[in-house]
Amino acid sequence: MTNSAPVTPRRDLADAPLLAAARGETPRHTPVWFMRQAGRSLPEYRKVREGIPMLQSCLTPDLVCEITAQPVRRHGVDAAILFSDIVLPLHAAGVGLDIVAGTGPVVAEPVRTAADVATLPSLAPEQVSKVGDAVGLLLDELGSTPLIGFAGAPFTLASYLVEGGPSRNHERTKALMHSEPATWHALLEKLADTTLTFLRTQLAAGVDAIQLFDSWAGALSLRDYREFVLPHSRRIFEGVAETPGTAGVPKIHFGVGTGELLGSMRSAGADVVGVDWRVPLDTAAQRLREAAPEQGDPVVQGNLDPAVLFAGWEPVEREVRRILAEGRAAGGHIFNLGHGVLPSTDPGVLTRVVELVHAESER
Ligand code: CP3
Repeated sequence: MTNSAPVTPRRDLADAPLLAAARGETPRHTPVWFMRQAGRSLPEYRKVREGIPMLQSCLTPDLVCEITAQPVRRHGVDAAILFSDIVLPLHAAGVGLDIVAGTGPVVAEPVRTAADVATLPSLAPEQVSKVGDAVGLLLDELGSTPLIGFAGAPFTLASYLVEGGPSRNHERTKALMHSEPATWHALLEKLADTTLTFLRTQLAAGVDAIQLFDSWAGALSLRDYREFVLPHSRRIFEGVAETPGTAGVPKIHFGVGTGELLGSMRSAGADVVGVDWRVPLDTAAQRLREAAPEQGDPVVQGNLDPAVLFAGWEPVEREVRRILAEGRAAGGHIFNLGHGVLPSTDPGVLTRVVELVHAESER
């Protein structure tokens, strides 16, 4: 008998609504998934995470696989998003940081000078090999449900590093940007390298789509975004596009409060632009079209206000129908929240949202 090569299960994603919508085709129903769907809103998540620190969980492949699959099993969403965190690659590269419950990422020694930037470590692929292992397990686990990989964009990562933790005003970050532009650009270049390495690890392991989270980019003016951030985010999307075997892998770009930045965020190289709840999807589509008519009909993702999930079913139902109607003005629509699931959300309401989106959009 000859030794047979390990059999890679063939995943048939040809009809996956998420991928069809991202390509601007007509899916059998509007795909829906939720940012932060894998997390504290689920009792089964809290149970498996008990006593295991967040960053350690992200580097334990069995656990990543289980937590990533939980919301797919429970809600029937059209995509899984890899359980990880935007600061995981920084931690893996050796940056001293922790994720503090109820606060967010906290950095031991904030990065504020040219010398700090020079000594900031970059990520080596082998430092996140466990994430690749987790993706491998998930491809078997998820069957025909697409897996979305992700990373944090350089501005949002820089904000955590420079401020030392979550920040309302991003004042130290903006001060560095404006007072020492060379240091700023050196920092964002390093972070773009780390993000690209992290994404390539996930792509090589087989993720079906990627999302670049620039959660806090909405804190910037369009002028500052274009000068200090866009070139670095663009380099990441270009690097992803140039990675062999990624031709059909949709690239999603998302930030909060980015109504003024939508056109620029698409021009960074995104196939799908995430929209928060502040801008109706038809308005967002119009802005995207006007910003770059040559890029074709835009595909949008969003945008139910996560706080509305606390209002009782009737308002939720009304909002879901409104958003589906507004989404029809775009070249494609992936239903999502306008930001992540809040921890105290009733998961039963999320399941009903999935059912309603599917029923309302069945073709
Ligand atoms: O389904 C999913 O989306 C799961 C994967 C995921 C997590 N973080 C898990 C997580 C993703 C995509 C992220 C990205 C992330 N992390 C972002 C971008 C998305 C966004 O919300 O804008 C940002 C800004 C972070 C940084 C971060 N990490 C924050 C602000 C927090 C919350 C802190 C808190 O406790 O309130 C985290 C921790 C975190 N990341 C948790 C989870 C499930 C909670 C930690 C825990 O369960 O112990």
